[in-house]
Amino acid sequence: MVRVFLDHVTKIFKGEKKRVVAVDDVTLEIPDGAFVGLLGPSGCGKTTTLRIIAGLETPTKGKVYFDEEEVTDWEPRKRNVAMVFQFPVLYPTITVYENIALPLRAAKEPESEIRKKVKEIAELMGITEILNEKPIKLDVNSKQKISLAKALIRDPSVFILDEPLTVLDPKARIELRTKLKKIQLGMKKTMIYVTHDQTESLTLAEKVAVMNAGKILQYDTPEALYDNPANTFVGWFIGNPGMNLIECDVVEENGKLYLSTEGGFRYDISFIADELKKLGQPKTVVLGIRPEFVEVGSGPLKAKCVHAEYVGNRIILHLESYDRTLKAKTPITVRARPGDTLRIDFVKERIKLFDPKTGNALL
Ligand SMILES: Nc1ncnc2c1ncn2[C@@H]1O[C@H](COP(=O)(O)OP(=O)(O)OP(=O)(O)O)[C@@H](O)[C@H]1O
Ligand SMILES: [Mg+2]
Repeated sequence: MVRVFLDHVTKIFKGEKKRVVAVDDVTLEIPDGAFVGLLGPSGCGKTTTLRIIAGLETPTKGKVYFDEEEVTDWEPRKRNVAMVFQFPVLYPTITVYENIALPLRAAKEPESEIRKKVKEIAELMGITEILNEKPIKLDVNSKQKISLAKALIRDPSVFILDEPLTVLDPKARIELRTKLKKIQLGMKKTMIYVTHDQTESLTLAEKVAVMNAGKILQYDTPEALYDNPANTFVGWFIGNPGMNLIECDVVEENGKLYLSTEGGFRYDISFIADELKKLGQPKTVVLGIRPEFVEVGSGPLKAKCVHAEYVGNRIILHLESYDRTLKAKTPITVRARPGDTLRIDFVKERIKLFDPKTGNALL
């Protein structure tokens, strides 16, 4: 397998009326054997980035490397990239066995080798029983397993998967997700996995690049994306629900430092006064606190419960606190009803502060 490196890659589509910057100065390194996720909302440039790696699009600017070799002008075939798309692409009227064997036949592998490899991969994907069926008769879950088998049986430079589990039903999705992770761990293949489903990306990939509007906003481990989002977008996008983002003034009073709003929201942050001073003590900041770290029961802030959403073993409380709104994700034992007035606090070491102008993390 290879290490993939995108060096300041930009892709601009020029239409009749408008010009779309689909990929905007992306620099990204995918180490050899790594499982990397590309995560972001619809239209942010994920598929275009993949197509540039596969050689199906030429970048407007920038370079693509496989190991130390520049491949920007290489044909897709020469790059030897295995791709799996959202919708399974199979020949409907030849058997599953023949579909999976196709890439090996194209490579002129001996029949005995093909038989052995198809058997192995079919067992791995749990499709041995349907090897003699034709795809036309099968459901989408089975078809996508076959597409994956067809990609995995090859020995490509890199695997590219573009939302491969999106069309599956929830049970098959989880089953295949687990399978894919096992296979990747076992084979140590370089895999780039695109999705807009954060659970999928964060459970599968060792590192995830979060994209928005053509740019990579943070490229980090799932833990780091959750614990230390580099900006407000990542804070909001990662998490379920995402981080609360509350714009506040920073005010000093009687030797103490507060986050404050006109409507009376006031929170003592003296414990980080020194760190804020070092940053030149900004006048306004965006407070970032994940709903999991909003504690309900006691604390310095008053909040009114507007709505309570039951999500399995947790409740998401939609709160109005003075002139700000926020969410708390609490244990099911917290009995709050719409209309109740509650006291809340934040887990101090989980408080993040962002620059309101750039959205970038300050603390
Ligand atoms: N061939 C093209 N011509 C013109 N514009 C394009 C072309 N391909 C993509 N775009 C535009 O580039 C932007 C990025 O598209 P892309 O398909 O890469 O997004 P995506 O992140 O894969 O989205 P989704 O999650 O919906 O699949 C979009 O605004 C899209 O409309
Ligand atoms: Mg796409």
